[in-house]
Amino acid sequence: MREIKITLENRISTVYAGESLSAIRQFTSPDNSVIVTDGNILRHYTDMFDDFPVIEIGTGEEIKNLSTIENIMRKMIELRCTRNTFLVGIGGGVVSDIAGFAASIFMRGVRFGFVSTSLLSQVDASVGGKNGVNIGMTKNMAGVFSQPEFVICDHRMLGTLPREEYINGIAELVKTACLDNNGLYEFVHSNKEKILSMEMETVSEAVYRCVRYKASVVEADEKENDLRRVLNLGHTVGHAIEKIKGMKHGFAIAAGMGIALDISVMNGHADKNYADEVKSLLEFFGLPCGIKGIIDKDEIPDIMDAIESDKKRESDSVNFILLKKTGEPFTKAMGFNELSDIINGALSADGGFR
Ligand SMILES: NC(=O)c1ccc[n+]([C@@H]2O[C@H](COP(=O)([O-])OP(=O)(O)OC[C@H]3O[C@@H](n4cnc5c(N)ncnc54)[C@H](O)[C@@H]3O)[C@@H](O)[C@H]2O)c1
Ligand SMILES: [Zn+2]
Repeated sequence: MREIKITLENRISTVYAGESLSAIRQFTSPDNSVIVTDGNILRHYTDMFDDFPVIEIGTGEEIKNLSTIENIMRKMIELRCTRNTFLVGIGGGVVSDIAGFAASIFMRGVRFGFVSTSLLSQVDASVGGKNGVNIGMTKNMAGVFSQPEFVICDHRMLGTLPREEYINGIAELVKTACLDNNGLYEFVHSNKEKILSMEMETVSEAVYRCVRYKASVVEADEKENDLRRVLNLGHTVGHAIEKIKGMKHGFAIAAGMGIALDISVMNGHADKNYADEVKSLLEFFGLPCGIKGIIDKDEIPDIMDAIESDKKRESDSVNFILLKKTGEPFTKAMGFNELSDIINGALSADGGFR
């Protein structure tokens, strides 16, 4: 087990990478805690916390909404929760986004922590204090920045994760590998077979390095005023694909990373060989590496509408994250018309895209 501390003003959030779910008892007890989790976690792991009061939420992105938050808070009232109640979210990114938000607003905020159970949430979602829900089909439109006291990343729990969900998480792992300037990309590249086959020691090292990178970014810019934006690599177009095509988050952002790489090459920022290598890595893991075959030309207006309603927009442009090379992301304000033309070009049979 390895600890990573995220120090923010007078608060510390600690991530325990490689710790076990059973360690929640070191931080909380059934007397003052409530667990928020989903049906899949309950099915596999209920005997590990059956002495705790449990609030079960449904599964999937569709339940990441304000009515789920209201239901959790109604149940917390029924359970006679107080300001001293500790909320523990056990699950993937959907559970942590929801549980963190509910905890942050119940009675103006109670303490909370997570057990992160999916690869996507261990490498990304559970760390960093962004909590929230979707409004209608628009992603993460309501939420707060609020740090969990602890995040336990139990790698053994990945053993029950459906294969598709594991691959979904690899997308955020590759994203982080592209952003990190501390050797994570080389590590992922040279250990790709072991990562694909879920070799535990390698996965554990990769998760640890992802958390370490994200912790450093969050410490530098908790509220995403500037630096933290780079974590949105692939997400501008990715969120739009997720919304329009109902594709899983990781698969959608992998497609979005593909187009971000294309734009980086087209604008002369990145080397084409480098972009091709990252795309090959995504393909190796069974992820998309562009938007061709995912969206049709007649869907471009819907994609542009989705991008315009996304909160990363600034008036008539969007903050697009591009990449010069591994560890060198940067933000570029891009006009909607320019972006629409690029997406159109990417979908043309003879466009200069891979
Ligand atoms: N807050 C952030 O900074 C941040 C960052 C990235 C992504 N996200 C959000 O995270 C969400 C996606 O997270 P996710 O992919 O973990 O989704 P998820 O929570 O829906 O989990 C995926 C599926 O796997 C199941 N599952 C999880 N762990 C399991 C286990 N150990 N065994 C068996 N089944 C298990 C879940 O029940 C669910 O069906 C999206 O809503 C995305 O917007 C948030
Ligand atoms: Zn993401």
